Amino acid sequence: MEYSLPALSFEFDALEPYLSSEAIALHYEKHHAGYVKNLNKALTDWGDAEKHRNLSEQIRLTQAIRFHGGGHINHSLFWENLAPPSMGGEPTGAFRQALEDRFGDRFQDQFIAKSVVVPGSGWSWLGYSKTDRSLHIATTLQHDLLVMNELVPLLCVDLWEHAYYINYKNDRHNFLQAIFSIMNWKVVQKRWEEAQ
Ligand SMILES: [Fe+2]
Repeated sequence: MEYSLPALSFEFDALEPYLSSEAIALHYEKHHAGYVKNLNKALTDWGDAEKHRNLSEQIRLTQAIRFHGGGHINHSLFWENLAPPSMGGEPTGAFRQALEDRFGDRFQDQFIAKSVVVPGSGWSWLGYSKTDRSLHIATTLQHDLLVMNELVPLLCVDLWEHAYYINYKNDRHNFLQAIFSIMNWKVVQKRWEEAQ
C-alpha cells in the first residue's frame, strides 16, 4: 500500500501572518508531496530488488528510503504541531510543570538557540526519554528521525531553508520565533501524555 500526503488540519492561509498561504502551499504540495512520491518509488524498487534477490540494490535503496521516508514522517509530525494563531493553546497542568522543571522559563529561548546553529538542513525537536522520563531538546540532520536518538517526538520544527525562505529569507531565528505564535501545544501535550 502506497503512502500518501496526510490532510492538513488548517487551510493554507490559516497561519498568516506568520507563514503565508504561498509558503504553506509550496511546502506541502511540492516539498512534502515530493518526499511521498520518491518514498513510494524507492519502496517499489526495493520490492523489485528483493524479488530478484539483488541485495546490493536493496542496500543502495535504503538511503533513499531513509531520506524520503524521514521527510514524510517528519513533515507529517510538523504539520500537526502547527495551529492558527491563538488556537493552539498553552502548556497546562503536569506537562507545564515538566517543562518548567527541565527548562525553567527558558524553553523557547533554549529551543531557538539550539535550532539556529544546526548546520545546513535538519530538524529541531522536543522529545521525551522513556529512559530518564524527562524532556530533551534535540536536533537531527537532513531528515533523520528523532527515534534514532532514542526519544519520543513531541514537537518538531523544520529547519530546512524551504520552510522559511519565502517569508523570512535566510533569517532562521525570526522564523523560529514566529513558530511559537502558531504552535499547537494541545498536540504536543497529548503526545507527552501518550508517551508517559
Ligand atoms: Fe520541509
